[in-house]
Amino acid sequence: MGRRVTTRATPPDATRLGTARALPWRLDCHVAAGDDSAAADELRRALGAPRPWIPARWFYDDAGCDLFVQITALDEYYQTRTEQALLDEHMDALVRGHGITELVEIGSGAARKTRTILDGMEGAGTLRRFIPFDISPGAITASAADIAAAYPGVRVHGVAGDFSRHLSRIPRRPADGRRMVAFLGGTIGNLDPPKRRTMLRRLARLLRPGDCLLMGTDLAHDPEVLVRAYDDAEGITAEFNRNIIRHINHAYAGDADPGHFAHVARWNARASRIEMHLRARRDIDWNIAGLGIVVPIEAGSTIRTEISCKFTRESVRAMYEDAGLALAAWNEDPLGRYALSVATPA
Ligand code: SAH
Ligand code: TRP
Repeated sequence: MGRRVTTRATPPDATRLGTARALPWRLDCHVAAGDDSAAADELRRALGAPRPWIPARWFYDDAGCDLFVQITALDEYYQTRTEQALLDEHMDALVRGHGITELVEIGSGAARKTRTILDGMEGAGTLRRFIPFDISPGAITASAADIAAAYPGVRVHGVAGDFSRHLSRIPRRPADGRRMVAFLGGTIGNLDPPKRRTMLRRLARLLRPGDCLLMGTDLAHDPEVLVRAYDDAEGITAEFNRNIIRHINHAYAGDADPGHFAHVARWNARASRIEMHLRARRDIDWNIAGLGIVVPIEAGSTIRTEISCKFTRESVRAMYEDAGLALAAWNEDPLGRYALSVATPA
């Protein structure tokens, strides 16, 4: 069980906004660095596996979240601007059509695209509550404060947790409201098929008749374009990948030099996914004192850090159906690279 810390807070600079009105938001925190034995056990098992890997949640410390925001601005990373364009085009109709009163966003990160959805709800006069959910307490704190300040009257209830463990901690949906659960950025593709199934079923449990799920999925297309999106010329993605080592060093007193790892991104056509690895540039004995392990890594061997599955309309439909949801809307960009879809309880 993670420790639960509930904080009622106002942004640190509230007094400098020149208004006497407090900006109300709250944060429930179910994750705390170095204090989460389930996360430590998972990491120990992953690094000890015959083919070592690192759970992707370790990308997202404050530095990782900042690097990810830089990725979203890269030329090569078409996903973010494509998803934003689809939101710009379709959000108003969607929000009005469903009369959405609250937005639950899973893996909200910096919550930039979120504003397009909130704008639609505010325009429709139905906006009541925003619930950002992310593994990074820092990201939740920053986005909750920003959004509470930018949308007077909205209640912001942030939840810092692991979406594979803490989705049930999301506050109950009011009987007289309508909820949209947003899962953007193609993050669903970062889960392997069994985890994806479980995730979709849990997301479906957050919905009642009248509610909907809004999901962004990257589509299978030109492998060259796909690989470039995960291996940019400036090396920001490589830095993001290596930051996973830095984060673990910091959390558990590890001693590996991130510079001793090279970034690898490759397309696995059979599994329709990009795979990210760190390849050891030399023999490394990674001593992670806080986990009580030493991980021997031979020069040239790799540690898998992420998968990013690419979908088709059919595979998305099938994934919804499996979770008891029905595909209600499908919007893809003119180049057929990215899709924003809506699902409703069947
Ligand atoms: N929604 C944003 C960010 C996507 S990046 C966008 O579309 O640009 C993925 C986000 O999911 C990050 O903010 C990361 O902190 C969060 N995340 C990753 N693994 C998670 C986990 N296990 N539980 C909760 N959030 C997680
Ligand atoms: N959800 C994003 C994606 O799959 C995450 C991501 C983007 C990512 N670039 C990355 C993860 C590079 C690891 C490394 O597109």
